[in-house]
Amino acid sequence: MSTDDFKPETWTIPSNEALKISLVSSAQDKAVQFPPSFTYPIYGDDETIFGFKNLVIHLVFDSVSFKPFINAKYDAKMDNTEDILKKLESELPTDDIVIKDENIWRDVCEVEESSYSLPRESLKVGEYTTSDSNVFVIYKAKLQEDPALSKLHRRMQIFSLLFIEAATYINEKEPYWEIYWLFNKKTKECLGYVTTYKYWNYNGHESFDSKAYQRTYRKRISQFLILPPYQGKGHGSKLYKCIYNSWKGDSSVTEVTVEDPNESFDDLRDLNDLDMLFKDGFFATLMDTIGIDNNIDSKWLQHKRKEYKLEKRQFERCVEMTLLQSQK
Ligand code: ACO
Repeated sequence: MSTDDFKPETWTIPSNEALKISLVSSAQDKAVQFPPSFTYPIYGDDETIFGFKNLVIHLVFDSVSFKPFINAKYDAKMDNTEDILKKLESELPTDDIVIKDENIWRDVCEVEESSYSLPRESLKVGEYTTSDSNVFVIYKAKLQEDPALSKLHRRMQIFSLLFIEAATYINEKEPYWEIYWLFNKKTKECLGYVTTYKYWNYNGHESFDSKAYQRTYRKRISQFLILPPYQGKGHGSKLYKCIYNSWKGDSSVTEVTVEDPNESFDDLRDLNDLDMLFKDGFFATLMDTIGIDNNIDSKWLQHKRKEYKLEKRQFERCVEMTLLQSQK
């Protein structure tokens, strides 16, 4: 025992620091480790763990199959501390985790990887090639549509808790969830996913009762995640554009909406919406329509907003940003 052992800080650690997330690629013989952004859904609002000295909790995934492995290491623990892995375990698919035995985990991963394949072609909704000639594929599937993707979702959904503030797990029994998946075509590694759903657009009984009535929906992006090792390389933008374009081209969709966007998602959305509006010639027409009194025809704006299926607040932000830029 040393005098340090009597100080509470020796036995206390922020849970964001203690938890180390790793993606391990056996094919490429490499591992990347990164910290979580949030651990309060697992370790409580204080995000602090007490009772262990030099605690490290490992949450490890195979980078292809995402088979999870968990372990904890520490130099000493106080009496009466609970099993430190229990809370983490409860957020993972309980019958599908390997705890502590790394050799078993490696063996399972090897077997799973040997038969692992990308989702079927009919679920594919997009593909792009980056400047380094890597090809990435986007798939869309309802939760129960593809058993392999359902399993992958159960393994990966903990990333939503760890990286998206206020995220909760989605109810697998609710049929309206659709998930977009992004994969590296060659390595078969999943880079991220987007959970989405739609809600019915009720426009009043007159429209509903009319013979020409077509059921229309608002689509909503709920959880948008690119895993940390793949962030800042344009993948989020490609995925957002793919989702937006597929909804814009769908006559049953009236509006593209986003649930509680954070600052970095707002940036990504602004950048891509502005780019799309610019390339489509919207801003050139906007400048032409501004009268000598500096007024913009609000009916025309409203018509354009509906055409682009953007939310009112988002469309106005884009218009405002462009007008400010044009005054510089
Ligand atoms: N090389 C280098 N940088 C690039 C490249 C490239 N080829 N292409 C784009 N970038 C830059 C962009 O300019 C942008 O920079 P900026 O932010 O300074 O403008 C930055 O990279 C990010 O753009 P992308 O790479 O397209 O976005 P990314 O793939 O990193 O995804 C996201 C962004 C989704 C926010 C991701 O960082 C993430 O998942 N974060 C954690 C979870 C999160 O916050 N999700 C959103 C929550 S809100 C919600 O879910 C509705």
